[in-house]
Amino acid sequence: MRQIMASRFMLALLMPGLSSAGSQSVRLANGVQMPTVGLGTWEFNNTEVTGVVKAALAAGFRHIDSAHNYDNQEGIGAGLAASGKRRDEVFITSKVPGCGIQGLGKDDCFGNTMKFIAEDIRLLSSSGFPLKYLDLLLIHFPPCMEGEAPFAPNPFATPCRAKRNGCTDPDNCRAIAEQWRAMELVYQQGLVRAIGVSDYCSACFKCLGANATVMPMLNNVQFHIGMGPDPQGALSLAERRGMVLMAWSPLGHGGRGETPIFSRALPMQIGKAHGKSGAQVSLKWILSHNVTLTTKSGDPKHLAEDIDLFDWELTAAEVAALDADQFAHSEYDTPSFMCNDPDNEIVV
Ligand SMILES: NC(=O)c1ccc[n+]([C@@H]2O[C@H](COP(=O)([O-])OP(=O)(O)OC[C@H]3O[C@@H](n4cnc5c(N)ncnc54)[C@H](OP(=O)(O)O)[C@@H]3O)[C@@H](O)[C@H]2O)c1
Ligand SMILES: *[C@@H]1O[C@H](CO)[C@@H](O)[C@H](O)[C@H]1NC(C)=O
Ligand SMILES: *[C@@H]1O[C@H](CO)[C@@H](O)[C@H](O)[C@H]1NC(C)=O
Ligand SMILES: *[C@@H]1O[C@H](CO)[C@@H](O)[C@H](O)[C@H]1NC(C)=O
Repeated sequence: MRQIMASRFMLALLMPGLSSAGSQSVRLANGVQMPTVGLGTWEFNNTEVTGVVKAALAAGFRHIDSAHNYDNQEGIGAGLAASGKRRDEVFITSKVPGCGIQGLGKDDCFGNTMKFIAEDIRLLSSSGFPLKYLDLLLIHFPPCMEGEAPFAPNPFATPCRAKRNGCTDPDNCRAIAEQWRAMELVYQQGLVRAIGVSDYCSACFKCLGANATVMPMLNNVQFHIGMGPDPQGALSLAERRGMVLMAWSPLGHGGRGETPIFSRALPMQIGKAHGKSGAQVSLKWILSHNVTLTTKSGDPKHLAEDIDLFDWELTAAEVAALDADQFAHSEYDTPSFMCNDPDNEIVV
């Protein structure tokens, strides 16, 4: 992750396509450069997301995080088309559901995965933006082969959510290997430039099996202030496996009805010392740990703040104070919904 530390000038020389005043990149295991800060698009509808994508790209974002399940791919494509950006100036991430969840039927994990990926790319390119490939494709969740047939609408509706056995149940483990074969195939076909996973714990990686030839290059997990610098060993696991870690809900999903995590005294106070907001301090803390992130905002002023993270640094003492302030909710502030490494005891 050396690029995170490199100067903006150096970055401009190294990555003419993706560099901009507001962007910095990290190198994935296969050499693909990924902007460290992406725009989240979960819970934006197809109409609303078009303006947000356009505003985010104007503010300096160069990475858009989408998913088959967000059902807003046409709107994202329209925003990309309206932005005037070339395909190689933006980095597009998407996610295909885990088998048995979010519409992907467990009758044929491999075939359905291939079908959903093709559909996702078709929808993203249906509004005039020439999108023939994804920059990064993730499996959205560990699978769940038990419960509602042919699939549960969301991970919370599965028995695997309560049991946290998305990667330890033998049927789920087999489904992981089958879906990963599809990921390897689209990677080899050039439909995606890099492949990874989301909400995966250490046990999930064992399930990839001896037949895996390409290893996941990134894991996308929940990671934000209050969870500590290495929640359930998610970051050390990523480092051991040569994966980049990418944080979801980096601002705690706006507070989930309570005071937003970035409005707490500590990030506000640290922000004051830098002329930055508590939200910016919360995001910067993530980058300070070599973790990348996708954050969501529908407010152009917030978008400008959320990408203004690269020409200032937190002090070591500030990072340490935020590391120590562990207030996360043990039920939902965990890296994954579907599996658990409470003591980071499964070393892979
Ligand atoms: N792989 C997975 O399983 C998974 C799971 C969850 C999320 N994700 C991805 O991660 C993305 C981000 O997570 P998230 O949507 O939960 O939200 P988040 O980024 O943690 O928080 C977004 C909230 O913070 C507010 N906000 C953003 N910037 C702000 C600023 N500078 N000042 C004040 N408030 C600010 C936004 O409100 P305003 O609109 O008012 O700015 C919004 O309410 C998602 O959109 C999705 O792409 C992935
Ligand atoms: C982040 O990566 C850089 C470059 O590899 C390294 O020098 C630094 O120690 C890392 N920081 C953390 C907090 O791991
Ligand atoms: C999309 O979201 C916007 C903003 O929340 C809302 O005003 C609009 O009615 C929604 N459109 C649809 C079709 O749901
Ligand atoms: C692994 O590959 C071999 C050879 O192609 C095949 O016979 C075997 O069924 C595969 N194993 C799994 C678990 O997919």
